[in-house]
Amino acid sequence: MHLIWPPDHAGRVIEGAELEDLYTYPAGRTWLAVNFVSSADGAVELGGQARPLSTPPDREVLQLGSDLADVLLIGATTAMVEGFHGVHPDRRTRERRRRHGLADVPPTAVVTTGHGLPADAPVITGAQVPTLVLTCEAAPVDVRRAWTAAGAEVIVAGEGSVDLTAAVAALAGRGLRRIDCEGGPHLFGALTEAGLVDELRLTLSPVLAAGPAGRIAASPLATPVDLHLASALAEADTLLLRYLAQR
Ligand SMILES: NC(=O)c1ccc[n+]([C@@H]2O[C@H](COP(=O)([O-])OP(=O)(O)OC[C@H]3O[C@@H](n4cnc5c(N)ncnc54)[C@H](OP(=O)(O)O)[C@@H]3O)[C@@H](O)[C@H]2O)c1
Repeated sequence: MHLIWPPDHAGRVIEGAELEDLYTYPAGRTWLAVNFVSSADGAVELGGQARPLSTPPDREVLQLGSDLADVLLIGATTAMVEGFHGVHPDRRTRERRRRHGLADVPPTAVVTTGHGLPADAPVITGAQVPTLVLTCEAAPVDVRRAWTAAGAEVIVAGEGSVDLTAAVAALAGRGLRRIDCEGGPHLFGALTEAGLVDELRLTLSPVLAAGPAGRIAASPLATPVDLHLASALAEADTLLLRYLAQR
């Protein structure tokens, strides 16, 4: 991939260990990196899914984000519509994770009030390690029991909706501090409102989508956060941007 920012290294081709270094989470602290792919005109989905927007370089950096993380974090709707079934590492991923001192398989943590995550969701039943369901008091007790019976670990944080600050603290308390958030827009909006986003990994895909799709973040209140461009790569007409939240 061609590095185009920062300018002192612009023009270099980055691959292998150097690319891995760029996407390695900072050590010794909780770090929440949010991944999105967007069309050039800002659409977050095509036909209801992110996959048609993705390109090979986007998939490569998304894979790096998950390979180098302690835990994947997603909203219930994304888990369902994208058919998440947990991480199933191949040999390359296992080797990479062992080199970085990570567990062989990162769990997936799904945020839900209980409405949109049935107990037979593939993200629970298809996972190699127990999925963490991050929920709140509003989730009916029988739904919580069904998640547990299906093999998930249920973490309750908050009353009517999930208290994301407490939920992230609960992950960190389990040693899951390198957090790879893979969407979607409502979860991203709520994480931004809560001031929990450290990094945005944004892919700009070479397509105009038009249509009714929303943006990468959705929340009732506008809560602007300034960003610092940490790196920009270009490959196959795709822009791969890493922004750090300025707090
Ligand atoms: N382009 C991309 O990179 C990308 C990435 C991911 C998703 N997407 C697309 O985004 C679309 C889905 O969008 P979305 O915004 O609806 O997805 P989402 O953020 O994954 O899911 C929203 C759901 O997450 C739960 N949730 C989020 N914040 C919560 C909180 N604070 N407390 C409790 N529950 C919370 C709720 O689930 P319950 O209803 O169960 O309570 C809510 O309905 C899909 O079309 C998907 O393909 C695109």
